Amino acid sequence: MKQYKLVSESEMIKHSEYIKKVRAMNTASGEQKYAYIQTFGCQQNVADSEKIAGMCVSMGYKLCNEPADADLIVVNTCAIREHAEKRALSIIGQYKHLKAKKPSLMIAVCGCMVAQEHRRNDIKFRYPYVDFIFGASSLFRLPQLIVERIEKKKRLYCPEENEYLVAEGIPAERESTFKAWVSVMYGCNNFCTYCIVPYVRGRERSRRPEDIISEVRELVKAGYKDITLLGQNVNSYGKDAKGDGGEVYDFADLLADIDKIEGDYYIRFMTSHPKDASKKLIDVIASSRHIAHQFHLPMQSGSDEILKRMNRRYDTKKYMETVEYMREKIPDITISSDIIVGFPGETEEDFHGTLDMLSRVRFDMVYSFIYSPRKGTPAAEMEEQIDDKIKSERFDRLLALQNEISYEKNQPLKDKVIKVLCDGRSKNNDGVFSGRSEGNKIVLFEGNDFDTGKFLDLKITRADTFALYGEKLK
Ligand code: SAH
Ligand code: SF4
Ligand code: F3S
Repeated sequence: MKQYKLVSESEMIKHSEYIKKVRAMNTASGEQKYAYIQTFGCQQNVADSEKIAGMCVSMGYKLCNEPADADLIVVNTCAIREHAEKRALSIIGQYKHLKAKKPSLMIAVCGCMVAQEHRRNDIKFRYPYVDFIFGASSLFRLPQLIVERIEKKKRLYCPEENEYLVAEGIPAERESTFKAWVSVMYGCNNFCTYCIVPYVRGRERSRRPEDIISEVRELVKAGYKDITLLGQNVNSYGKDAKGDGGEVYDFADLLADIDKIEGDYYIRFMTSHPKDASKKLIDVIASSRHIAHQFHLPMQSGSDEILKRMNRRYDTKKYMETVEYMREKIPDITISSDIIVGFPGETEEDFHGTLDMLSRVRFDMVYSFIYSPRKGTPAAEMEEQIDDKIKSERFDRLLALQNEISYEKNQPLKDKVIKVLCDGRSKNNDGVFSGRSEGNKIVLFEGNDFDTGKFLDLKITRADTFALYGEKLK
């Protein structure tokens, strides 16, 4: 098989030297230094932040929960919708007074938002107390940027890498001891017309199967029970590393090999593009021991015309066939989706197409979004942008229909006993514990702290729209 594009060994040696250098500086200062990492956006960013945290720990920082305690703040940003960017910019704005109080505080901004030139300029001119910026494909440069910031005494704007690479060997400081994120590929080649991701994350690069498999094996050995494989379109895994004879070790092959690892754990994955969710992949899940019976398959719209203009390269017929095949092979599968309302030119009839598909597919869960124009994407330039009022009215109607469906879909689980991985105390309800079923549904129950991180058998006593309620059997 072809060689994957890794950051060179000599670069990685330099990387470790920079880590040592920062650690030495931190030790020489005679006091414990703290790092605070703030993450916006998708699981990919959460996974990246765990690597940033890993580098910070290697550099001698302790992680802290309050920005006011930090000597280094890293804001890992998202650009998917305007709201995500606004929130990040407002947080960065709030750090101005921290810097004024503690001039030695270093503030770094990284991730998707600052991979856009206009946002880099925003930071440069409107947030002059930000010390340095780096894009999502330059994560491994953090130690180098800290050293250069200190030595050169000037603000730094890490240029985007001209070749998007994969850096192996950066240890992750994981938030959980039983749930883990494992990136299997980076970037996206799909260029859906509304989406900024291909512009900020670069082209698809797959990690080597052996690196992924050994990471998962180590996680299972360390007691991890719920492992999610990440990529913007996991179904194109391996296609960028086609062998000379054109052979591809694809995502289904990877899943089948991971499934061979012995242990009590679930494998999940995000996200699948419907245009290449293959029968082979579904067959592998059906015959696997560890792959959760759960599938997130973003449909985006139920109108063929809109799907075409979104450049999604499937139609509702093909989507429906995939869903039917999944349900035939894996009858208890949970299916969820992403929907965008108010894409430019979406007519009432197009929107009806989406509502109609929700009724036909009957998703367990839907994440719906109001279309947000992204600078530099084709859809932002399309005429017939939809009025905000119509967008939010359609959003509400979609939500109302889906809530009904989610409620109905959950009812058959009542009185059933299901296996749940306990996440710990629930955030909202005092004394109530929260967990996830194999289908990734939230289950609330009366538990105790010993349950956290364990699989439990729970009898479902009540099923609601957004959560199930259960009782412990043992
Ligand atoms: N790679 C994944 C999703 C990435 S973004 C996939 O292709 O499915 C997550 C979701 O955000 C998308 O599925 C889409 O529904 C939504 N999204 C992306 N760009 C958007 C935009 N400009 N406005 C509103 N929602 C958007
Ligand atoms: Fe964006 Fe489409 Fe790529 Fe998903 S597949 S990240 S929606 S361009
Ligand atoms: Fe946001 Fe970047 Fe993820 S734009 S959704 S953080 S890939």
